[in-house]
This record gives sequence, structure tokens and C-alpha cells, in this order.
Amino acid sequence: MAKFDDNPAKIAALRTRLLEWYRCYRRDLPWRRSTDPYAIWVSEIMLQQTRVAVVVDRYQKFMERFPTLISLALADEQEVLARWSGLGYYRRARMLHKAAQFVAANLGGNLPVSADELRLLPGVGAYTAAAVASIAHGERVAVVDGNVERVLCRLAGWEAGSRKGGGSALRRKIEDLAGRLLDSSWPGDFNQAMMELGATLCAPRNPQCLVCPLAEECETRGEHKTPRRAPMMSRVVAYALSVRQGKRRGPGWREVLLEQRRAHQTVMPGLWELPALVQAEVPEDEVRMTLRHAIMQVNYYVRIRTVFEDDIEEMTVTGGERRWVPLREAAGMALTGLARKVLARAHLLPEPPLDTIAPGRLA
Ligand code: ADE
Repeated sequence: MAKFDDNPAKIAALRTRLLEWYRCYRRDLPWRRSTDPYAIWVSEIMLQQTRVAVVVDRYQKFMERFPTLISLALADEQEVLARWSGLGYYRRARMLHKAAQFVAANLGGNLPVSADELRLLPGVGAYTAAAVASIAHGERVAVVDGNVERVLCRLAGWEAGSRKGGGSALRRKIEDLAGRLLDSSWPGDFNQAMMELGATLCAPRNPQCLVCPLAEECETRGEHKTPRRAPMMSRVVAYALSVRQGKRRGPGWREVLLEQRRAHQTVMPGLWELPALVQAEVPEDEVRMTLRHAIMQVNYYVRIRTVFEDDIEEMTVTGGERRWVPLREAAGMALTGLARKVLARAHLLPEPPLDTIAPGRLA
């Protein structure tokens, strides 16, 4: 049993201190200035598996282009994917788009209100549903994401990381505690405060217990063992960068050869990338660029080789549909993060990439 568990006064004090801390120190994030359930929903989908710092900038651009659920529902999927660029995990963008279309077609454009109904939408799990329902509508439902789970385990002194075997029992205990701690007057702020605490002071490494508003009630105060992250795997890959002069004159009209990942591919289907080289080993003097690109648990060590148009057939692996794309259009396409990085580093993308392209010009 945790220090505060059987003591309502301690629980009340804990809630007050956490909310006060949150109201003083919360980060000023664009979605926190909105009460629009659509805006909050988009932010929560983006925040799944992606750090706040990365989300902030993309979120604002995404919302400028799709300010309403209807505008998102009416958009072409390739454009939604293009505007998701840099956030990764593109399945989230597809699901968001599908859900917007469902809501537009069947619910008069109004997002469901309760967490239970929100969960029925594609891409919305328990944590996202609870976040949206509590923040946008004040529903009394606790959010338990990875950060909150760590905060609660430390607070109660429970060994984390033993998900196998006893994992589901621990998960139930965590959810139960989250529900009992939830502030019923301010559930949205309370949930955000817990997530914020986990993302800032109560981080996996070097928790800042000296300034933590919950230190007094905390069982572990920095002594809690956080499970080690799974080690990253490494892979060497190589791609062809092939650029030719387009039919029209001028730098933006030069064309780059891109290939579309097939629809059945499990990772990033439908996105455009550079053609893969047959030989991942590229002779030193032929390497145009090297970079590291991390996707989930894999570090890709990437080599880029310039390939002339005549050599493409022989040197690359045939995959999906290929297209010579004018550089001024490539920026607005649904490129993989890696393809965008390579083209940007080779100074082949105009700046800023997405906003200069009219939607009609997209692939
Ligand atoms: N992580 C996911 N959603 C969040 C939110 N609304 N506030 C802080 N961190 C979050």
C-alpha cells in the first residue's frame, strides 16, 4: 500500500500540489490554448510515440492546412500523409484521416464526446480516448500512458518492467490507482499534469525529486529502477539518388526518381522513397552521403550513391511504381522521412517544403 492510499486528506493534498505545480510550470503548447475537441484529438494522436518538441511545429502547420475536421475529411490521403511528414508512424495519419471521414459521413462532423464512444474510432485507444474526453469535455476518466505509469509506479513503490507474467495484474493496480487519484473537478488538467510530470521532472533517468510536487508522498524518490530500454539494432542500407534535367528549364524543374512503397507493405505503405540499390556496399569514392536514420528499434546506416539515369535499371532493386518528379513537387509529396532528409541535405528541396505547394499539385 502506498503512503497516501488510505488517507483521503493526503490524496487531496497530493492533487492540489500537482495541479498547482501544473498551473505554474506547464509548457505553453499550442493545443493547450484550444478547447476544440478536434484540435485536442489531433494533438493527442500526434503525441502518441512522438516527443512534444517534434510535435509542436508540425502540429501548427497541420492545423493551418486542416483547421476543421471536415477539411481533414475532404483531403486526399496522399496530402494528409505529406503533411504528417517528420512525425513518423504514418499509420496514425491514415487512421486519423479515416476517422475524420467516418465522423463527417456518419456523425454530422461532431466527434463523439465520451471516452467509450471515442474508442470506437480508428486509431483511438484507451489512453487517447481518455485524454480527449477529459481535456475537451471534463469526463472523469484517468489517462495512463507510459509516463503516467512510471510516475505511479515510483509513487507507490511498485517494481516496473515486470510486465511479463505479473504484468496485467500490475497494469490493473496502476489503472486502479490512477482512477483513485484523479481530481474529479479538474480531470483534464490533472491528467495533463500527470503526463507533464512524467515527461519533465519524473523522467526515466535523473528524476528531479528535489523539485517534484509529489516528493513528500513518493515511496521511492529517485531510487526506483526503471527498466532498461531494448538495445537498438543496426542495419546498413543504400539508396540511389538520381536527378535529371526536366523538360522545363530552371532548378525547380530538375527531376528526381522516386518510388512508391507498395500498398501491402507493413511499414509506410504508399509513401515515396528513393530506389534501393542492389548492393548495400557502396565503394568509398562513390558514396555521395552517409547518414544515420532511426526508425523504432532500428538504426539505419544509410549510404546514398548518385546514379545516372542509364544505370538505374541495373543498379537498383525493382519495387513499386517509379516516377520522375520535378523537385518543386517532391517537397509536397508523401515522402518517407529518410527520403525527405536526403533530398534536404542534398539541397534539392525548396524551403519551406510543404507550404509552397498547392494541394492540386500533389502526387
Ligand atoms: N502526452 C500526451 N498527451 C499529452 C498532454 N496533453 N500533455 C502532456 N503530455 C502529453
